[in-house]
Amino acid sequence: MNIRPRRNRKSAAIRDLVQETQVTTDDFIFPLFLLEGTDAKVEVDSMPGIYRLGIEVMLKEIETCLKLGIKAFDVFPVVPEHYKDQTATRCYDEGFFYQKALKRIKQEFPEACIMTDVALDPYSSDGHDGIVVDGKIVNDRTLEVLGKQALSQAACGIDIIGPSDMMDGRVGYIREVLDENGYTDVSIMSYTAKYASAFYGPFRDALDSAPKSGDKKTYQMNPANQQEALIEADLDTDEGADFLMVKPALAYLDVIKLLKDHYSLPIAAYNVSGEYSMLKAAGEKGWLDYERVMQESLLSIKRAGADIILTYHAKEFAQLNGR
Ligand code: PBG
Repeated sequence: MNIRPRRNRKSAAIRDLVQETQVTTDDFIFPLFLLEGTDAKVEVDSMPGIYRLGIEVMLKEIETCLKLGIKAFDVFPVVPEHYKDQTATRCYDEGFFYQKALKRIKQEFPEACIMTDVALDPYSSDGHDGIVVDGKIVNDRTLEVLGKQALSQAACGIDIIGPSDMMDGRVGYIREVLDENGYTDVSIMSYTAKYASAFYGPFRDALDSAPKSGDKKTYQMNPANQQEALIEADLDTDEGADFLMVKPALAYLDVIKLLKDHYSLPIAAYNVSGEYSMLKAAGEKGWLDYERVMQESLLSIKRAGADIILTYHAKEFAQLNGR
């Protein structure tokens, strides 16, 4: 009995000394939902504690989060139905309320890191990430629109572009379009291994962006596949991605670990809406201790190998671990 691992657990001070993984607000990107208009604040029914915000309220929210130590934000627009069309033209409209809001945010908080999503679903009357022709999602025509979308976001001063559409070749295409237009320092965080997951349900409620027909299985990955993530990661690396992302996070910790072990690029994990809502709901029912399971979940994502976590828990975590 000479070896007693419990010696390293005997006090909080020793446990802190030997703790292998730390989660801090430095690791977070906080997703935010933007509403048209200025002062609105509407809670997402399926995501208690998460609100869709008008620009003035969002600016205040970003200021509060910056004070809490959260420095990076991913801003998603809630696009009213009457703006949607089949080819998602609003996604590259410089005068649209989203682009105007992005410029405001970068003007007010140049020090904040602002990320945007590149995919057509919030703007598409079909609710798909690509253009639909005869019931099929057409890849190469979609690339052209994604390129315009990325360019329009870059023109707003955005720091990181996040292609979440899963079209083939989009990272290389977007990199080329950005470079040709002088945006060589705009980063690309590719949704590398993005699975066709049911955990995105509450996000689609928040944005009202669910597909009008069919599902996303012809472009998002099959949840059963791990090796396929390596194919996607090879392509994204070759095409010039700056970060590789795995999404969702908790149900795909093995994929996070796999990419961390095989690639030198920073690995991000998207702790998605359904993963947030599960913990919230169980916490509200009194079945789980929300604060503890939330922190344990974030720790597990970090321990699996994620360098960056996109999470709706960011603000609550920061408030709990106040600096
Ligand atoms: C858009 C997009 C989605 C999410 C991020 N970007 C939804 C989807 O692909 O259907 C999901 C995020 C979440 O569930 O928190 N393509």
